[in-house]
Amino acid sequence: MKFSITLEDPLSHTCQALMVGCFEDDNSDPIFMALDQAVGGCLGLLFKERDFPGKPNKVRIMHTLGKIPAERLVLVGLGKKRELTDERIRQGAGAAIQALRGTSIKGCTTILHLAGKGGNEFLQAAVEGAALGGYGFSQYKTKNDDNGGIEKAWLLYPPAYAMEMAEKVVAETQKVCEAVLFVRDLVSQPGNVAFLAKKGLEMSARFGITCRVLERDEIEQNGMEALLAVARGSRQPPRFIILEYTGAGAKERPTVLVGKGITFDSGGISLKPREGMEKMKDDMAGGAAVMGTLMAAAALNLPVNLVGLVPAAENLPGGGAYKPGDVVKSMSGQTIEIVNTDAEGRMILCDALHYAKRYRPAALIDLATLTGACVVALGNVASGMMGNDEGLKRAIRSAAEKCGERVWELPLWEEYGELMKSDIADLKNAGGAEAGAISAGWFLKSFVGKSRWVHLDIAGTAWMDKDRPYQPKGATGVGVRLLVEYLKGVAKGR
Ligand code: BES
Ligand code: MN
Ligand code: ZN
Repeated sequence: MKFSITLEDPLSHTCQALMVGCFEDDNSDPIFMALDQAVGGCLGLLFKERDFPGKPNKVRIMHTLGKIPAERLVLVGLGKKRELTDERIRQGAGAAIQALRGTSIKGCTTILHLAGKGGNEFLQAAVEGAALGGYGFSQYKTKNDDNGGIEKAWLLYPPAYAMEMAEKVVAETQKVCEAVLFVRDLVSQPGNVAFLAKKGLEMSARFGITCRVLERDEIEQNGMEALLAVARGSRQPPRFIILEYTGAGAKERPTVLVGKGITFDSGGISLKPREGMEKMKDDMAGGAAVMGTLMAAAALNLPVNLVGLVPAAENLPGGGAYKPGDVVKSMSGQTIEIVNTDAEGRMILCDALHYAKRYRPAALIDLATLTGACVVALGNVASGMMGNDEGLKRAIRSAAEKCGERVWELPLWEEYGELMKSDIADLKNAGGAEAGAISAGWFLKSFVGKSRWVHLDIAGTAWMDKDRPYQPKGATGVGVRLLVEYLKGVAKGR
């Protein structure tokens, strides 16, 4: 979707559809009143009769019958005026764009960002909602039953508006959204390790990021036995993807991002049930989010140094597969007793987290679709957050509140360490049925050393089974907007 700013009076602006925000309780603002009058009081009547009460994310499309140059009004409910937030605008724009999908309309204009107090935050939210809500993955559809939705959106401002700042906001927001959609595309693709690495290389070349992909022999030379153990059950060899973006001075310590890159998780010998197993192609969503974040940071020229590490493998029960009872020596030297081959994510991550130490990270952040237990705890509304540094957790939390990609902290108290003790090795790779998200976090904590570290369990948030306003069902691309927001804070703090 392409966006442009246009300076015009909504009453004289020609378009196929004009998106207008409506409140439940107060529609006295001048633009709304003028529009109402121009269409013969029709809007006011819709509210008075409660045909369209302006509840959040409700959308009505109505024809204007030539009364104004805009052919249609798209009324978007924004809830109560006092409660208006960026997230309401983001969701409203997403809901409206989704409502326009399946119609013949290809272009629309919005004044959603002018609702309430207006401002550049609302502008950003409107662009995000529209760009993300309009997404669809149709690469493998040969019979097109979908018109592809809106291709072009105009953001309307009054004629005399000084638009330089707004143009910058739109341009930057589009870049971040492009990265989110890149992640969604990657996650939607069928699982394939080499494909993920290839996309990493292509993307890096396009954005001036350094990318190196370690193949099996180099992974062996590094002693990443935990990654190798997981990969042994598959014909597809593992890869270790290393991305480096230098946006600050060479001496500046980098933020290191680590993402789980399991391109398909069958569970291995501890095989998963067949129901819904196809969804486990999304098990590289953390890795994809890391790639997308580097892409966005480079596109925005953020003045930070960033490293992205993506251990990638496929977890299958082949003849060479690792099995319960095996003991694996990780790159860090710590030994791991395998009790469940389906706890493969932490295996590949522990080698990557250890590898990360060589960068002396200013902060170490991992993202992983790590545990079903996290989905049980938080559903698909928030990602689980764990970590060893209050300041870093606070920064992530505030970035999350700001961008709408919520996180919720789970504790890593000492007592939970008991769950991961093995009788014969330093650790075992799975705890019992209790506190599954936390015991996984605890396992990772054993490999981060003294680094300031946060772990984000995105098992519930990487994929939606139902449409959300700006997350059509399927891959969400979660993580990119959160980390970009966090990194903007890092850049500012210097
Ligand atoms: N990729 C899964 C976690 C997952 C489950 C993500 C459901 C999204 C939806 C992970 O590798 C896994 O299988 N975890 C196990 C860990 C257990 C064996 C300790 C789990 O959660 O059951
Ligand atoms: Mn698994
Ligand atoms: Zn997994």
